[in-house]
Amino acid sequence: MKYVIGVDLGTSAVKLLFVNQDGEVVQEVSKPYQLYQEKAGYSEQDPEDWVKQTLAGLTELLAAFKGDTQDIEGISFSGQMHGLVLLDKEQYVLRKAILWNDTRTTKECEEIESRVGRERLLEITKNPALEGFTLPKMLWVKNHEPDIFQKTASFLLPKDYVRYRLTGQLQMEYSDAAGTLLLDITRKAWSNEICDILDINLDICPPLVDSHTKVGTITDEAAQITGLPLTTSVFAGGADNACGAIGAGVLTEGKTLASTGTSGVVLSYETSNEPNFDGKVHYFNHAAPNSFYAMGVTLAAGYSLSWFKDTFAENLDYETLLQDVGNVPIGANGLLFTPYIVGERSPHVDATIRGSFIGMDATHERKHFTRAVLEGITLSLNESIETFRSHGKTIEQIVSIGGGAKNEYWLQMQADIFNATIIKLQSEQGPGMGAAMLAAYGCGWFDSLQSCADTFLKEDKVYQPIEANVKKYSELFTLYREVYPNTKNLSKALIKLR
Ligand code: XUL
Repeated sequence: MKYVIGVDLGTSAVKLLFVNQDGEVVQEVSKPYQLYQEKAGYSEQDPEDWVKQTLAGLTELLAAFKGDTQDIEGISFSGQMHGLVLLDKEQYVLRKAILWNDTRTTKECEEIESRVGRERLLEITKNPALEGFTLPKMLWVKNHEPDIFQKTASFLLPKDYVRYRLTGQLQMEYSDAAGTLLLDITRKAWSNEICDILDINLDICPPLVDSHTKVGTITDEAAQITGLPLTTSVFAGGADNACGAIGAGVLTEGKTLASTGTSGVVLSYETSNEPNFDGKVHYFNHAAPNSFYAMGVTLAAGYSLSWFKDTFAENLDYETLLQDVGNVPIGANGLLFTPYIVGERSPHVDATIRGSFIGMDATHERKHFTRAVLEGITLSLNESIETFRSHGKTIEQIVSIGGGAKNEYWLQMQADIFNATIIKLQSEQGPGMGAAMLAAYGCGWFDSLQSCADTFLKEDKVYQPIEANVKKYSELFTLYREVYPNTKNLSKALIKLR
């Protein structure tokens, strides 16, 4: 039996999956790392922590492996998107990485849209300038830390940096490059024009490759530390959402994914390179060859739940926290939560909006708040589904992955709020499985990612919308949509107290 390894470099931890030729996960390891939030709106990580924990995870996987290590044929990566890693000419990291959920760059976004022009930016990159994307972060460093920017010889995204440390090769692949706001999405090339207008040296942009491209093999040093054979082929990998989509079989038109990781996304497969969403949702190159996807993002999905647990129920595990939500009626007895605790992206691009519990009553208990948090996250994802539907997309079946797929109540809630069939996969592994599939395809085990998906992925359970619940949630959704416009100015005014 042969094996591949899928590495998912997330925001809270790196998760590694050992997968065999039948798509079975024979072993998995997760290693956490720290998030640095020096100020409200700031979110950074130390790239060295990613490398240290990835190497530790690989070492642990290999130490427990009973077979012949020569049978480990390939490794590939999925990574948190948009994070800016700056390297000097010796390829040393110049500062901590600024992450996708860092919202300090509102001014830089305005600068980009005024200098490049919103229309032209949309033509080239298919996306507007959003705080989370990489280019605004680059301009922030240029504007606020010019000495560091001057020393910059290359930039990378998080998983590309980890892969560089395992192979010694600098590359970036299209699905992650699409989230930088520097890629001409149709031409699949760095945009000379945007670099020129914003005085960014095109030479700092790394060579571009496809996600299933073999980019090298493991260095002697990485092989020695981890026990991986020197023959292990390394494949480029993809953005976490693209890999999540591959790992959920979202590989043909009409397939949709709802993912609740730290952030939450609703993602829909596209073959056209001419999106018609007016920049209201993101539009990126897929990690599957010659395809794209449209995607709406809730910045704090799983993060809203973990924030709630860590703040108000620190000593409970998730199972205990969620055990009573089924006993609370739809609408949590009049309690409504908006998950804007770190600002929002879709459909409200707003770094200053903050979350709220509306309708708190003296009779509410922790279980009502817990249910309201799950509902608020799901209603927020439904705003993206509404955007897709209002632009003509049919969304009938959705594969659910991440935290939202681990709880029966939450799965049914998704079916009722999205008014769509929700599919739960057997052994749902998220983006790490997509990364493993890219390695399996890259190794030549299959002639397409679809045939890999046919072997690796199996449906477990299907949740159908319940008509009476759909009606109640549709009323709640109308109220939910009222909260943003009514709290926008309050949130802005409260900033000075933060
Ligand atoms: C997508 C985004 C997040 C991160 C999470 O645009 O910013 O989903 O990829 O890792």
